[in-house]
Amino acid sequence: MNQKGGVGKTTTTINLGHALALAGNKVTLLDMDPQGQIATGYGLDNNQSGLDDVLLNDVAIDDVRVEARDKLYIIAAGRQLADFEHVSEGGSARGHRLRLAIEASSLNDQDFILIDCPPSSGLLGINAMFAAYEVVIPVSSDYLSLQGLSRMIPIVKRAESLSGHTIKLWLVSTRMDMRRRLAHEVRNRILNYFPGRVFATVVRENVALAESPSFGKTIFEYKPTSAGAEDYFSLAQDLLERRIS
Ligand SMILES: Nc1ncnc2c1ncn2[C@@H]1O[C@H](COP(=O)(O)OP(=O)(O)OP(=O)(O)O)[C@@H](O)[C@H]1O
Ligand SMILES: [Mg+2]
Repeated sequence: MNQKGGVGKTTTTINLGHALALAGNKVTLLDMDPQGQIATGYGLDNNQSGLDDVLLNDVAIDDVRVEARDKLYIIAAGRQLADFEHVSEGGSARGHRLRLAIEASSLNDQDFILIDCPPSSGLLGINAMFAAYEVVIPVSSDYLSLQGLSRMIPIVKRAESLSGHTIKLWLVSTRMDMRRRLAHEVRNRILNYFPGRVFATVVRENVALAESPSFGKTIFEYKPTSAGAEDYFSLAQDLLERRIS
């Protein structure tokens, strides 16, 4: 999650998810962004029933989950997901629909459930946070991304107090241009402000990561020897071993 657009949330969900599945974990990806890029990134159609039907029409998650790869399921956004932001009835229970739908599903046998969030903090984001134990915030190497990060902190804190469970915060440096001084400055800042919370791996800017979704492939299928594949494989190891910088 990060309210700032284009920081690498979706790229990270797609490729970190596949890396975890390739390492033998059972993984499910939930697309909470109406842009619906998780399905298309895996070469599937987003014009299918997905989280839109789960959140708007009480359809069961098990009825809309799709096996996208070995050990990897996705639940697409579906075409109507944006409508959920405008749901006004239901009071505070509206924030808990995703959590309840997950609890009522067979997803409790999964090792990892990754939720891709939209670049906003509306009802979709609230549902994601109420359902989550941990929030990963991608920070790309520019100041606006840092600003997005600082906006996220009070939102996560508020979600913690409203939901009554703690939410662990993690940061990951994304789209890092190693030649730019600014990129290193931003990385140093987050390391100073969030000691012990920043994953060791830095995801470098890598053109193959930008190209792969247009082929409906993850980086491990499109260019397994690329820097992008190396970095997302390493990030998965960070997550599995809680390896920090
Ligand atoms: N490490 C990277 N190297 C090169 N391109 C990248 C990298 N990470 C992401 N991109 C590209 O940057 C753009 C934004 O990435 P992505 O869609 O993952 O961000 P996002 O945070 O999900 O955006 P949004 O806020 O719109 O949901 C995409 O075109 C993507 O292919
Ligand atoms: Mg996205």
